[in-house]
Amino acid sequence: MEEERLSPKKLRPFERIIFPLDLADPEQAIKYVRLLKDAVGVFKVGLELFTACGPEIVKRIQEEAPSQKIFLDIKFHDIPETVKRAIRVCSTLGVDFLTVHCSEGSRGLMAVAEAKGNIKVLGVTVLTSMSKDDLKEIGIDIELAEPEKLVLKRAELAKRAGLDGIVCSGLEVSKVKEKLGEDFLAVTPGIRLLDKTIPQDDQKRIVTPFDAIVNGADYIVVGRPIRDAEEPRKIASLIAEEIQKAEKYRLTHKVH
Ligand code: C5P
Repeated sequence: MEEERLSPKKLRPFERIIFPLDLADPEQAIKYVRLLKDAVGVFKVGLELFTACGPEIVKRIQEEAPSQKIFLDIKFHDIPETVKRAIRVCSTLGVDFLTVHCSEGSRGLMAVAEAKGNIKVLGVTVLTSMSKDDLKEIGIDIELAEPEKLVLKRAELAKRAGLDGIVCSGLEVSKVKEKLGEDFLAVTPGIRLLDKTIPQDDQKRIVTPFDAIVNGADYIVVGRPIRDAEEPRKIASLIAEEIQKAEKYRLTHKVH
């Protein structure tokens, strides 16, 4: 039953949209939950909101939007035992998705897989804010400094360790699906609308909602393009329409 609820094949277009509640004020966050609860499928609680409010915010979102899923995006990264114990605590919160960095390595990721219970755990491959130059700067060797190569390597690691999917950009998602199969979940941030730029944007490996879905993303994370719009609900509906068009395109062009 739970598996059924989380099956990406059955999602309606708007349910593929993950909205990050990137705010520090819980009342503001809840305002967005009320505004968008039937326009997106998943609310993401990230570092800013979780640091400000703790697990209490998860309960409040559940009360306001019981049909929506909750994604706790803490991007854990520590020694295997510490991460495993933190994941065990998360499994009591009633969240649907969690993230860990694939740079945990096999031992860390296997410990996560062991502790995750029913939660879908996604491995963060390479942040969509990282370019080739950023990877070189932190000492990733020249051969793997091509983001796509590193994403694929880390996605393979995540799958082998027993994770449910990965987070990568829309530029790499088709290769990930080709290599690791349709059922390995792919969540894609770094989504930007064609006609809108974001001031001082930190995202580098970006694609449109249409391209992300055509390339095989199961879910897309869309934050600032919705949050900072004059009419956030309207933008979320336009994105859902774009997703629907992309799904049709995949069917008619037999993209698998
Ligand atoms: O659309 P926007 O850039 O505002 O989305 C930002 C959100 O995407 C943040 O919550 C950030 O944590 C998340 N993100 C992510 N994984 C990445 C890059 C960004 O979950 N690789």
